Amino acid sequence: MSDPLAIPPGEIRAMGRAALERVAAYYEGLPERRVVEPTTSQAIREQLDEPLPQAGASFESLLDTFDQVIARYSRHNGHPRFFGYISSPGTPVTAVGSMLAGALNANLTCWRSAPAGTELEHTTINWLKEMLGYPREAAGLYTSGGSMANLAALAAARSAKAGVNVVQEGTAATGKRMCLYVSREGHFSIRKAAGLLGLGEANVREIATDPQLRIDLADLEREIEQDRAAGHLPFCVVANAGTTGTGSFDPIAEMADLARRYGLWFHVDAAYGAFAALAPSARHLFEHIGEADSVALDPHKWLFLPVGCGCVLYRDPAPAMAAFAHDAEYTRPIGFGRNESFAFWDYGPELSRPFRALDIWLLIKFAGTARLGEAIEQNIACAKHFESLVAVSGDFEMLAPVQLSIFCFRYAPKGYSGDLNALNEQLLVRLQRGGSTYLSNAKIGDRFALRGCVLNYRTTMRDMEIVLEDVRRAAAAI
Ligand SMILES: Cc1ncc(COP(=O)(O)O)c(C=O)c1O
Repeated sequence: MSDPLAIPPGEIRAMGRAALERVAAYYEGLPERRVVEPTTSQAIREQLDEPLPQAGASFESLLDTFDQVIARYSRHNGHPRFFGYISSPGTPVTAVGSMLAGALNANLTCWRSAPAGTELEHTTINWLKEMLGYPREAAGLYTSGGSMANLAALAAARSAKAGVNVVQEGTAATGKRMCLYVSREGHFSIRKAAGLLGLGEANVREIATDPQLRIDLADLEREIEQDRAAGHLPFCVVANAGTTGTGSFDPIAEMADLARRYGLWFHVDAAYGAFAALAPSARHLFEHIGEADSVALDPHKWLFLPVGCGCVLYRDPAPAMAAFAHDAEYTRPIGFGRNESFAFWDYGPELSRPFRALDIWLLIKFAGTARLGEAIEQNIACAKHFESLVAVSGDFEMLAPVQLSIFCFRYAPKGYSGDLNALNEQLLVRLQRGGSTYLSNAKIGDRFALRGCVLNYRTTMRDMEIVLEDVRRAAAAI
């Protein structure tokens, strides 16, 4: 029988060269592109929609469609003035890494399925622990992102603190409401996880914040006391190590202490902020992170990894095993030693898992943490520079202090008597359509903020000046 999908090695090489040429050209032209081309769903669909292809097409023609339609109508998260949400720009090294991982197509379920891949995951997780100052004995694994890392950590917390076998019996077996505490600025994935884990979103207590948008410790303690007095079961406190809205950083030491006093699990959501630990100016914020029972972090944010790579760390792996370990005859390790019987499914929700560690290993080895830290420090410096530009501008105001690399501001020209929320909302739409600067939005109190997050090693101080020029130009056009 012939192989219907066979491609001769020479042709594979030609395909690779052609694809890599497009990759290099993409990076070369990135700063000159619009961040996003104005278009519509219908217009893109018209160029892609076709009946199910029966016959194959030439690889070159597919690369042309990639360039002319797919790349063209993508939002370019690697553009130096893409500041929306919390999005990694990706890197050339990991673009190539993803190709190599695709060739191996390893499935990182357990050691037996991917011996080198599993060891690489252990090694790189050890590096992440070292970056953060998290104990070496801690366990951890990669997840699809921060939301899944938060879910996994809260599942471990639930098993550790329920007092019953909650995996078997469900949370109802506790006979109590299991309550979790996070500031109002916490990411919605915490509430979502509480819903999915049967804890109930209504049992997530949203704690007030101080003027810097950090958790209010007095309010936190009051809520815990109230729940105890009501006969509920407080079980977990979540600290934000860099909130999504403004980048504010909760007081880790004080929260760790409070969690200890009340016997609660202490989880840190560092999905955005974790890699600021590599920047000398932010290092001190992580001094007490080793006291957390679990940490969620996202290499696919500030470690510049491609989308699809989060990470959860557990100080003690036992509660994670209580939450996740499962036996099935077809996965039972037979004939292996202890280390070789290791299975990731014992510590997290996924069975089949992609080879996320390869990209992390490639990037850290290729760039080194000194250069990565320098890039992160520059991002922080850009956001601070922006804050100082706003301070002397006369027509802009900051709506929250810059703590890491997120800046929230609005256009507020002197003498303007209209609705600043409506004006800035209009400006956001214009900017996003304009293609030179891409911001997203946040609500600070009842004020609409133009919000940016510097998360890109290509962004320069000059780019930060261009942001203000672009907003002024958009305002003049309204
Ligand atoms: C603080 C925080 N936690 C969790 C998440 C969710 O991460 P992911 O999008 O990787 O699921 C985000 C996303 O922006 C975040 O900022």
